[in-house]
Parts: sequence; C-alpha cells; structure tokens
Amino acid sequence: MPADDLQQQLVKYLEDVHSTEQNAITQLRDGADSADDQELASAFRQHLAETEEHERLISERLEAYGASPSSLKDNAQKGAAKLTGMVAKAAPDSSGKLAIQAYSFEHLEIASYRMLREVAQRAGDEQTVAVAERILTQEQAAAKRISGLLEQVAEHDLERQGVAA
Ligand SMILES: [Fe+2]
Repeated sequence: MPADDLQQQLVKYLEDVHSTEQNAITQLRDGADSADDQELASAFRQHLAETEEHERLISERLEAYGASPSSLKDNAQKGAAKLTGMVAKAAPDSSGKLAIQAYSFEHLEIASYRMLREVAQRAGDEQTVAVAERILTQEQAAAKRISGLLEQVAEHDLERQGVAA
C-alpha cells in the first residue's frame, strides 16, 4: 500500500477511536450519575477522567494530520457511531446492565486500540503508537476493574429487588 494510502487509513482509525471516546464520555458520565452501586460509580468516575484525556490525545494526533473539527463531527455521525451506538443504545436501567454495557464497551475499545497501534506501526507513526499503548493500558485496567465488580453488582441488584438469596 502506498505511504499516502496508509496514512489515510491511519486517519480513519483515529477518527473512529475519537468517535468511540466521545461515546465513552457520554456513557461514563451517565453511568457515574445513575449507578446505585458505589464502587461501580467510582470506577466510572475514575475512568471518565482518563477517557477525557484519551479524547484529547486522539484529537491531537488527528490535528497532526490536519483533520479539522468539522470532519471529526461529520465522522462521528457516520460509521464509527454505528458500531459504538450498538453498545451505547442498550439504555441500562440497573447497575447490572450498566456494568455489562461498560464491560463490553471497554473490550470494544481494547480491540480498537490494538488495531490502531498496529496500523500506526505500519505507517511509521511512533507518536500514535505511543498514544495507543498508553490508552490501551488504561482501557485494560478499566476492563479488569469492571470485571472484578460483576458478581457483586449482580448481588446488589438482587438485594435491591428484595430477592436476595
Ligand atoms: Fe475506556
């Protein structure tokens, strides 16, 4: 693939993860407000702060390629939004559903950053590789933290329904 095409592909990957991060910010904000499991809400708040930084780091990489805010906005309404929207539109009505949504979303992000890292490596963009690595580590930590809360959140949901065994 010619170098120009490779760079175009890299910009597409960056646009997609940018859209994903925008969705993540909305979800984490809603989740932190509505989760009645305190540990889950706290995990959401911590990852929200990280996610805001992810959005900024990816914006910077896009700006390095001359991507304008309007093209970011256009893209957010297209393909990438569809993929993340499938996860985001689940409309959680309990901490359990919020946890399931967050767990799946973190894994969607892990897959996205592993692929972004690979494409950036092939395009010879070491700065994007470094950004992808840094974010990937935080996405994996967030996924692990949420994973560790799943059983407890299920138990709390049962208690709240008055059906604790
Ligand atoms: Fe994340």
